[in-house]
Amino acid sequence: MDQLEINKVSFMKIIYSVLTIIILFSCSKKDNSKKLFFDTKSNINLKKEDSKNTVLNVNSDDSMLYDKNVLRAKAGKKIILTLNHTGKLPKNIMGHNLVLLKMNVDVNVFSKLALEFKNNDYIPLNEDFIAHTKMLGGGESDTISFTINEPGEYKYVCTFPGHYQMMQGVLIIY
Ligand code: CU
Repeated sequence: MDQLEINKVSFMKIIYSVLTIIILFSCSKKDNSKKLFFDTKSNINLKKEDSKNTVLNVNSDDSMLYDKNVLRAKAGKKIILTLNHTGKLPKNIMGHNLVLLKMNVDVNVFSKLALEFKNNDYIPLNEDFIAHTKMLGGGESDTISFTINEPGEYKYVCTFPGHYQMMQGVLIIY
């Protein structure tokens, strides 16, 4: 009988130790989920900060087109614009940029002038534009940021030779 009692006691001890381990393990798991929750929260905060800006994405490809010809953004709000070249052709054959012109600048006149500025990636040395991306080859991207305070329509264009008639759009500031 004594031997049996001892066995019972040691059995209970084992049960208690196993329970303790399980409780400790689940506590540490809870800690991890708290950490995950915190990280998610801070990501949400980052997104909120991003929403103070207008984020615009334009894709261009080997078929010499922008995927968007109309963009919209609020006046006075910072605009973060990314141009992606999703094609494969190199910059010297199928280069794309995005040049955002000042209001009332003639896009055709500007683009013809741009041909004379090959050494400057086809960006005229004048003040007719608000911002421009780099000239991109396939697989490249460039992001620019700027703010426009005056509502209206602003043309954008790719100034690579032969592209401006196909690659134009308008940014509407409201
Ligand atoms: Cu182009």
